[in-house]
Amino acid sequence: MAYVELNKANWNQRAPIHAASDSYNLARLIADPEARSNVIDYDAPHLGDLTGLDVLHLQCHIGTDTVSLSRLGARSITGLDFSVESLKVARRLAADCAIEATFIESDVYSAVSALGGKTFDVVYSSVGALNWLPNVKTWAEVVATLLKPGGRLYLRDAHPMLYTLEYTRDDQLLVVSLPYFEMRDPYVDDEPGTYTDGDTSNLTAITTHEWNHGLGETVQAVIDAGLCISRLDEHIDLEWKPFEWVVETAPGRYALPEGRERLPMMYTIEATKS
Ligand SMILES: C[S@@+](CC[C@H](N)C(=O)[O-])C[C@H]1O[C@@H](n2cnc3c(N)ncnc32)[C@H](O)[C@@H]1O
Repeated sequence: MAYVELNKANWNQRAPIHAASDSYNLARLIADPEARSNVIDYDAPHLGDLTGLDVLHLQCHIGTDTVSLSRLGARSITGLDFSVESLKVARRLAADCAIEATFIESDVYSAVSALGGKTFDVVYSSVGALNWLPNVKTWAEVVATLLKPGGRLYLRDAHPMLYTLEYTRDDQLLVVSLPYFEMRDPYVDDEPGTYTDGDTSNLTAITTHEWNHGLGETVQAVIDAGLCISRLDEHIDLEWKPFEWVVETAPGRYALPEGRERLPMMYTIEATKS
């Protein structure tokens, strides 16, 4: 089966599990009109005030970050994802939060036509996004086309070094066993389960195809797409547990134990279209 169909089936089955999970905690966002997801809380100091801006969230999943971006003041908020089940949850969440949001079902690579040529002041994507896409160069070209002149890309994702590591070891050694650079062939994951709490017994579409993209490849793709990079940060922690033995450094944030912080866990790129 083509990678898109495999991955889509997986995300469609994960969506209701995530919607019911404590990890995503939709009820908190609905109950408190000031509440934001941990992801957007982390990014907020750099995202700044989005008042008056048209914001696009690529790979928006069930909308928790999309709703939270709206709460930073965005004039309009659009979420895009290829998982129809994720978008059902996202639409209901936005309605329950009394937020006017547009959700578009589309592959990222078809976003320009799916959005009818509309362009945005901010294109945001984060936390488990690029690894689902086979080609980072094409992704960056799509992003550049979606930005207005002067518009900004905000990307925060897992570090490509993290994706090289053997994550099933129990001896706490960091062993590089997977390719760092973007490969033509995908990494095929057949592990059952997902990264949230909740019942995964109905999760049968477990085979996914993923790709790593070296940091240099991503940076160069953004530059080649015509964007000017203003920020490249590497982060010591991230929002999920890549290994059982990571430590929780803040609610919902995980890092390698003190004295063993050998590698960055995430990175952020901000870039502007001139
Ligand atoms: C880890 S989640 C998104 C991360 C987001 N930080 C979150 O937790 O809500 C990855 C999302 O990417 C979407 N996705 C994967 N491949 C895609 C593609 N080719 N086009 C559009 N969406 C895609 C999935 O449906 C899923 O909703």
